[in-house]
Amino acid sequence: MPDPLEEQQITVSSAALRAMRDEFQRFLMEYRFGLAEVETKISILREEFQEMHAYNPIEHVSSRVKSPDSLVDKVRRKGIETDFDSIRAGITDIAGIRVTCSFIDDAYRLSNLLTRQDDITVRDVKDYIAHPKANGYKSLHVIVEVPVFLSTGRVDVPVEVQFRTIAMDFWASLEHKIYYKYDRLVPDDLLAELKDAADTAAELDTRMERLHREIRGAHPGVVSL
Ligand code: GTP
Ligand code: MG
Repeated sequence: MPDPLEEQQITVSSAALRAMRDEFQRFLMEYRFGLAEVETKISILREEFQEMHAYNPIEHVSSRVKSPDSLVDKVRRKGIETDFDSIRAGITDIAGIRVTCSFIDDAYRLSNLLTRQDDITVRDVKDYIAHPKANGYKSLHVIVEVPVFLSTGRVDVPVEVQFRTIAMDFWASLEHKIYYKYDRLVPDDLLAELKDAADTAAELDTRMERLHREIRGAHPGVVSL
């Protein structure tokens, strides 16, 4: 015969666990909605450009809500308290969207078009295009807050938006793989090669942008940006 007291304890703790799980799912849900709002804004800009200017400044858009595992890792790594308010305040990339553009100009233009919308609040900007990281990493990072309207009212959800070119994206995805393959301890010669490759990618961006401008100059009606 099981001890009735013990049985009751198990019942209570699994109910508590279920409540925690529900609260966590609700917490992540807000970020999914915030992401959907920003994705819609980006796709409106993309379609409008296509229709009005017969030009698509965006090559690729990807987005994700941080997985629970990676969120827990980051909370530990940053030494953040484990209540939802502290996580909300301390981790601003739970919702993330990456906008890969054809040219550097487009990355800045799209970032401006997004951040000047009057329901958007800019929380932080890190311009690693103008100021690349020491390893060669380039991208424009903007943390925006977007309002989401739930049955319980309005919540402002932070979303990290990364704008970069195809060349920057190519470099960053390779660097990311190498970084994890070597468990964050990349040998010096590889680091130097990566830095060199970043310079080559930057040179390609400059050349492509110059070519693009020349073509645009030759046929102003075709690509009117
Ligand atoms: P995290 O704690 O990693 O989020 O860094 P942070 O809060 O200081 O923000 P930062 O803007 O520097 O970086 C945010 C995100 O940009 C990262 O999660 C990556 O997606 C990307 N990123 C930043 N630095 C690098 C880099 O050196 N290489 C690559 N591949 N990606 C980077
Ligand atoms: Mg981050």
